[in-house]
Amino acid sequence: MTPERPVLIFDSGLGGLTVLREIRYLLPYEPLLYVADDEAFPIGRWPEADLKERLLSLFDKLIVRHRPKAVVIACNTAFTLAGESLREAHPEVSFVGTVPAIKPAAERTSSGLISVLATPGTVRRAYTRSLIDSFASQCHVRLVGSDLLAEQAERYMRGEAVADDELFSEIAGCFLDSGGRRTDIVVLACTHYPFLANRFRKIAPWPVDWLDPAEAIARQLVRVLGEAVAEKPAGTPDRAFFTSEPEDSGLVRLLAGFGLALEP
Ligand code: DGL
Repeated sequence: MTPERPVLIFDSGLGGLTVLREIRYLLPYEPLLYVADDEAFPIGRWPEADLKERLLSLFDKLIVRHRPKAVVIACNTAFTLAGESLREAHPEVSFVGTVPAIKPAAERTSSGLISVLATPGTVRRAYTRSLIDSFASQCHVRLVGSDLLAEQAERYMRGEAVADDELFSEIAGCFLDSGGRRTDIVVLACTHYPFLANRFRKIAPWPVDWLDPAEAIARQLVRVLGEAVAEKPAGTPDRAFFTSEPEDSGLVRLLAGFGLALEP
């Protein structure tokens, strides 16, 4: 029997695991391959032209090597920059993307004040501006770019201490209190950030909705796969590939917790 082709889930580091866990929940039998370009991490500070070139050339290789059934770009920074070009370069592949959840935030806000917490790259993207123009023109949208949060999330995931005040200085800009109205929704527009959501809840000056798009991305993948959904247990553990080829026993254990075996 030929092995099932995997669904490839991509991020620059551990953030895409927030999306992988939702995909597992909805598609328990689907063989998954998690790819992290951790050699490039954090990609939120990369110049756009260099990052785009790197992503396109990496995907040329990944697609030939793994023949994925579908690709989930579980990274706002990568997808808002290179999503369209990746689809053009690989028309035979179904791509599911991750973009800042500005549309659902605009539909749900009561105060009309929304903040988008993201990497500096995602905040600068034309794609993000066009989401605001198309879906949130009636709201006040504040873009908050953080240089450090993705790395803080990785440290936290690896069991290192990250102090409340380090986190607070990254999220403080999200909270706007003006003319009797307050921010009521913060869009988590980097897939690393949901790992810190409980910490954010504790240090926030007032309660807000922290919008995590992971479940919506998993649902979109279900729609894209349609009848191609795998129905029988694959029998082998899912795999993870990190471009820096780390030999790190902490990482191996962490990935095992997500049902992933690190490939050499
Ligand atoms: N997880 C990525 C995102 O959703 C970015 C992390 C990084 O800066 O590398 O944007």
